[in-house]
Amino acid sequence: MKKAIESDMTAKPRIVVTRKLPQPVEERISRLFDATFNASDEVLEPDVLIARADNADGLLVTPTDKLKAETIARLPESVRIIATFSVGHDHIEVPAALKRGLIVTNTPDVLTNATADIVMLLLLGAARGAHWGERMVREKRWGAWSPTHPLGLDVTGKRLGIYGMGRIGHAVAKRARGFDMQIHYHNRSRAAPDLSQGAVFHADLHAMLPLCDFLSINCFSTPETRGSIDAQAIALMPDGAVVVNSARGDIVDDDALIAALKSGKLGAAGLDVFRGEPDIDPRYRDLDNAFLLPHLGSATLNTRIAMGMRAVDNLEAFFAGQAPRDKLT
Ligand code: DGY
Repeated sequence: MKKAIESDMTAKPRIVVTRKLPQPVEERISRLFDATFNASDEVLEPDVLIARADNADGLLVTPTDKLKAETIARLPESVRIIATFSVGHDHIEVPAALKRGLIVTNTPDVLTNATADIVMLLLLGAARGAHWGERMVREKRWGAWSPTHPLGLDVTGKRLGIYGMGRIGHAVAKRARGFDMQIHYHNRSRAAPDLSQGAVFHADLHAMLPLCDFLSINCFSTPETRGSIDAQAIALMPDGAVVVNSARGDIVDDDALIAALKSGKLGAAGLDVFRGEPDIDPRYRDLDNAFLLPHLGSATLNTRIAMGMRAVDNLEAFFAGQAPRDKLT
């Protein structure tokens, strides 16, 4: 890129945008860059992405772009930066990208509130059976009001374990305090007291699980966290507990979660993310105690615009010769 700038100071950086983005974001990209968009919004297979990246200076990607090491190795030499429209970056083999000298950026902060809101929706929806209640109304199966049927689980005053106390974890804790929930958390490090506000730190995930009437998964998907909510972890939770996942599907072992929901070991689950989504394990669809959403965590217009603007800020800074704010290391 340095060479490109030297040879033609007036040329705009060439950016490939892999998915359709909110209009104000695409308009800004058009002003700043020589951009290729994806008007049809189809998910690009790695070969197609590599072909589109020919001569590009940067890529603006999303979690549907799987940038494994072998794909990164095949990207044209011209590509200098990958800006992802997401806070999660498990779809990019970041060490391979960094090794190749690429800059990788994400979009933290701007989706914290929208995602924490969805966690509360999952938690309440799963506990109170919002999905089966709604189906009863739509399918005209709503009989006379009954004192004993159907019944959900209490949320107020219960113990909530937060697995991953980053920005979103803290925002979940703040909301859960409004429901008088007692907050426990497991994180690599203890949060500062002004942030944790009395939440109880557990250095060991397994030590926290017996205290979790509700477990909210809010950590990144990493080699350490992948598959960590497995049969052994679930067995440690109180009978009838509720698992909520708004982070990444692969943190959970699907066989273990489904078995626990079937046996009643777990009372319910609220899931916004799935391994292999959108091709989820079909057994989830048959579970009445699973409240399922299609990865809606950040899906509000304002949040998606803010995510796009943050990704563009990172690209703009990079091409202006500055360090992008959200550079991954
Ligand atoms: C992210 O940003 O990682 C989300 O999963 C997309 O909403």
